Parts: sequence; C-alpha cells; structure tokens
Amino acid sequence: MRIRLTASADHAADLVAHEILTQLRAKPNLVLGLATGSTPIGVYKRLVDAYQTGVASFAKIHTFNLDEYLDLPATHPQSYRFFMQRYLFDAIDIPAAHIHFPPSEGKRLLRRCQRYEMDIQELGGIDIQLLGIGSNGHIGFNEPTSSLRSRTRIKTLTPKTLQDNARFYASHETQPTLAATMGIGTIIDARTILLQAFGQKKAEAIRATVEGPISSYCPGSALQFHEDVTFFLDSEAASLLSMRDYYQQTQRHEEQLRREDRM
Ligand code: F6R
Repeated sequence: MRIRLTASADHAADLVAHEILTQLRAKPNLVLGLATGSTPIGVYKRLVDAYQTGVASFAKIHTFNLDEYLDLPATHPQSYRFFMQRYLFDAIDIPAAHIHFPPSEGKRLLRRCQRYEMDIQELGGIDIQLLGIGSNGHIGFNEPTSSLRSRTRIKTLTPKTLQDNARFYASHETQPTLAATMGIGTIIDARTILLQAFGQKKAEAIRATVEGPISSYCPGSALQFHEDVTFFLDSEAASLLSMRDYYQQTQRHEEQLRREDRM
C-alpha cells in the first residue's frame, strides 16, 4: 500500500488525474472503474480539461461504475448515471456503448449482475479503479459485514450511509435504501486502485482501512490484500494514522529512486 499525504484535495486530484492520463497514453483502450460522490469530482474536472485542451482522447476507453441506486431512473438527478453524465461523460468523447453500470432497474438483477462481471472480464479486467470511501469504511456500496470476496450484487444501505447521503434528497423525496454494487472481490481484481479521502469525517475510516485489522466490518481494509493500491489523503483524512512520518519518508524514498531511474 502506498500512502500519499497530499497538501489538499486539489493536489490529490492532480496526482490521480496524472496517473490516469499517463496510463491512458500507454493504453488508449484503458478500462476504468469509476466512483461517484463528492470525492472524485476534482479528478473528473481534470480529465474533462485534458480532453477539451486536446491532451487526451477517451474514444477507446470503457468505463464500469461501482454502483447505482435501485430503481432511480437515469434521468433522476440523484442517480449515479445522471452524475456521471454531468461530471464526465457529456464533456468527453467516450461512446455511449462504452459506458457500463451495474443493473439497477427491471427484472433478473442478480443474473444481470453476473453478466456485469463477465463484461468486465471480456474487456480484459479493470486497469484502474477509482475509489472514495464511506465514513463507515464502505467501498462501492459494500457496507460493513460485506463478504471480502463478494461480487456485483444488490446491497441494503446502512442507516449511516443513508444519513451521510440524506443531504442530496429534498424532504418530499424518497431516498433509495438498496443499490447494485460491484463486490469487494470485483474491486480488488482491478490492476491498480487509486483511493482518495478528504476531511475529518473520513479519518476514522482511513485509520481502520490502512492500519486496522482486515475485517468485513471495515470493507476498505480488504484493500490491504491489493498489491497496487495508493491512498491519496488530505491532512484531515490522514489525521488518525499513527505512522504518518513513516509514510512521508517512504514517499521521499520512492521519489528519489524514481529520479535516479532505479524503480
Ligand atoms: C460512490 C461510492 C461510494 C463513495 C463513498 C464516499 O460511487 O461507491 O463508496 O465513494 O460513499 O462518498 P463521498 O465521495 O460523497 O464522500
């Protein structure tokens, strides 16, 4: 695990976007796993800038989103499909047929969740998975006690997640309590994982994810199994980590070894 203690959310977004654009240059048909929520917006802004300034094309990529609320239509402003169109897809050159979401409407959802997994496999697997984290340690909508080997399926959201997201719903609107989500096993199959977390609200989840025991009670802790995962944290999200000095030291060493072309 690599822990990057960044100066700000903007700094983290610069680093994450740079990593995605670097991999995109090397592999124009990159397969991206994408997150929604407030955390990745800065990265999406930078990807849109890269497209609009002619630095990058997304015409050959495929995307797989982590999750979607059950029965919210794509036209609903709180649906994750609406979010992705607004913050990324409408502003870049990705073909509509290259955009994938877990099934969240209609019948036979579990069978179609298995199809989602097969679609990922058929495109060669996810190259980069972008993640945020819930204040309860969830990744995707894998809530505490999700199986660490789970695959794409339907999950019931916890009261904590509902409370965290209630701010997006008007008082007359019904907040969905179910979601389709990639599983923890699906997420950790990605070749590279880039997780961002900002603010004090995420500090305990980050402590448990990075320095706590591996436990389904903190789904993020499953990332400790991954061989190429980087956490991009602002100072508040990193504030409960006990080994902050060590992480800074490893970062300096890595930068030095890269400068010397020894990595
Ligand atoms: C969103 C997702 C969630 C969020 C998490 C943090 O697709 O999978 O796990 O990443 O709830 O949300 P924000 O970024 O709004 O704090």
